[in-house]
Amino acid sequence: MTISEELARTIIDPKAYSQREIVDAAFSTIRATAPLDKAVLDEMEPFWVVSRHADIKEIERQPDFFHNGDKSTFLTNIEGNERVKALTGGEPNLIRSLVSVDGMEHKNLRGIVFPHVTPRAIRPLEDAIRGIANEFVDHMLSFDGEVDFAQDVAFLYPLRVIMTVLGVPQEDEAFMLKLTQELFNNADPELNRARAELSPEEMLKSLWETTMELENYFKAVTERFRAKPTDQINSLIANARIDGEYLNHRQMMGYYIIAATAGHDTTSNTTAGAMWAMAERPGMLEAMQKDPELINAFVEESIRWEVPVKHFMRSAVADCEIGGKQIKKDDWLMLSYQSGNRDESVWADPFDFRIDRGANNPQIAFGYGVHVCLGQHLARMEMRILWEELFKRLKFVEMNGKGERTISNFVCGPKHVPIRFTVN
Ligand code: HEM
Repeated sequence: MTISEELARTIIDPKAYSQREIVDAAFSTIRATAPLDKAVLDEMEPFWVVSRHADIKEIERQPDFFHNGDKSTFLTNIEGNERVKALTGGEPNLIRSLVSVDGMEHKNLRGIVFPHVTPRAIRPLEDAIRGIANEFVDHMLSFDGEVDFAQDVAFLYPLRVIMTVLGVPQEDEAFMLKLTQELFNNADPELNRARAELSPEEMLKSLWETTMELENYFKAVTERFRAKPTDQINSLIANARIDGEYLNHRQMMGYYIIAATAGHDTTSNTTAGAMWAMAERPGMLEAMQKDPELINAFVEESIRWEVPVKHFMRSAVADCEIGGKQIKKDDWLMLSYQSGNRDESVWADPFDFRIDRGANNPQIAFGYGVHVCLGQHLARMEMRILWEELFKRLKFVEMNGKGERTISNFVCGPKHVPIRFTVN
């Protein structure tokens, strides 16, 4: 059995993710009729669509059977794949980052930063992050009752937090934001490098140019931190050694790039989406002001709701059975976090945003297993702190026009969230 062509086209279509009801409806049908089946399209290698929460976990629990790095880790077509291989000398991913390596290489690389991002390790950052949060709350309130919360707050606050943790100076933040948006939002003419509709060939060319620009930037970062090491994450990457050797060029660049890009865009999307959800639900702000404990539940629900990373791909290392289906060696699989976070067998009313789901929400938007998001505790902490500080001062909020989502099938979320607000 395969997934119908219409459904398959919808779930890969960047525009469908910008009108989320369309993609959510497609995945509801898939979960009900073909929860683990193949999508077959002429221009792409066929891929299994893993749509259920339980099957995503089952696959992520077996990293030796389902590799990240043998094929592209995100959706691409056959032509794009060939071009990437030509550019990288045979590797299936433009960037060799944690999400595109396996086994010991992954374990060793992850081990460089992991001890510095555990809940205990990041606790001392709380005061500094609260200071940054207050700067952005002041900034928001300076807009005098009307603001585009996505553009003017949500994109900027997590950017400042991660750049501080990495050791990137404030004057480089705008550059980092621009290149991150180019990297993740290549299909969106408002945000991509050319600021235009691009053909697949042009998209890859601009992705490559963005990657090279980031690499050039980070070359100087390595020199700076080798000369004068600090405890910031970029310094850990620059000075790390595996078996006595510095990371090779692609490993080092991939590490800098994933931390500097995934480290804010995801959190920005979630923050923007949380505000959008709250602004449409009278009483939610007041409930959290009365019981600030609910803020943790709000944060978890916003991560489930926004699902800023829509998918990652895996490939099977050997024949195996998952969810009653025979997966063959070399098969390519799409883990749809978008779908897994709407699974009706896990949540009642998955299409509603509810803060009564508690802080132990089984959301799977950070992934699972050995590749589970490295920045999950930092992301949670910075969002909690922003809401704690903002809710002390905000009296009322509602949408002030229509929100708008980015056109992308990979890392994305709201790009405009116009709100109207009053303060205490
Ligand atoms: C709401 C915010 C975020 C979401 C939803 C998110 C989501 C994800 C997802 C789905 C993965 C892949 C997990 C898997 O394959 O099982 C991932 C990996 C990763 N994330 Fe995040 N992320 C967020 C914030 C951050 C932040 C703040 C950082 C910065 C430190 C970060 C750094 C990474 C890294 C380095 C990886 C690769 C981990 C690995 O492969 O071992 N993320 N993230």
